[in-house]
Amino acid sequence: MSALLEVSALNKHFGGLHAVKDVSFSMAAAEIVGILGPNGAGKTTLYNLLTGFIPADSGSIVFNGRTLRGLAPYRIAGLGISRTFQLCRPFVGMTVLENVIVGGLGAQAGERGDLEARALALLEKVGLSGKEQLLVELLSYGDQRRLEIARALAARPALLLLDEPFAGLGSGEITDLSALIRSVHAEQGLTVMLIEHKLHEFMRLVGRVIALDFGEIIAEGSPEEIVRHPKVIEAYIGRGDEQAEEQADAA
Ligand SMILES: Nc1ncnc2c1ncn2[C@@H]1O[C@H](COP(=O)(O)OP(=O)(O)OP(=O)(O)O)[C@@H](O)[C@H]1O
Ligand SMILES: [Mg+2]
Repeated sequence: MSALLEVSALNKHFGGLHAVKDVSFSMAAAEIVGILGPNGAGKTTLYNLLTGFIPADSGSIVFNGRTLRGLAPYRIAGLGISRTFQLCRPFVGMTVLENVIVGGLGAQAGERGDLEARALALLEKVGLSGKEQLLVELLSYGDQRRLEIARALAARPALLLLDEPFAGLGSGEITDLSALIRSVHAEQGLTVMLIEHKLHEFMRLVGRVIALDFGEIIAEGSPEEIVRHPKVIEAYIGRGDEQAEEQADAA
């Protein structure tokens, strides 16, 4: 089977910091792949490179047979990669419904269909029915997280990149959002990449994990293999990083 996404020898420096270092991996269609790594490992930077928000220094990104490096974010979105942000970035001053409709404009022209009908269906799917006409800034934090996913799905992506979707949510909300991610994956055969520090749910959701540390891939494998991998254990607890220890305990 040919890969949906093929990343080869990707590099990004910020001045003297090598934030993404020779990263190579591939993803098959309909996989859920988790990106694991301590704070500052380069996870969000990897998303920023994949979506064209920042340019890579070197390397290649091939998606569905198309080379992405050098393309603007809107072109990459149009080719089928959508993302959510670590910190929610709703379009303030617009309603919940309008936010999702705008997300739908990222779809290729022929696939836009009836944007409003589709946005309403997506809002129902993510549990925001009845809140369509609210100004987005009036939503609770958990609802904003759900809205981010509806907005990303409105573009009809083949690949969805989620950046810490569970951050700031309570355990009940995390369970609901996990179920939502599972259901869009199952129903639409959506390929999903997930960055998350809440390891308990993360390990249950993903089929495969790529672990990063200091911008480099240090391990790749099933969730079971990853939690036992010596380099992953060292990255999380070997350096006496308090936050990492808490995360490892939570898993
Ligand atoms: N635009 C930027 N300019 C300069 N340095 C940056 C920029 N973006 C990220 N960095 C640095 O690159 C490194 C990787 O950052 P990144 O945000 O990718 O980490 P992360 O793995 O997503 O961490 P976290 O789990 O805390 O979100 C960090 O040291 C960060 O400070
Ligand atoms: Mg990040």
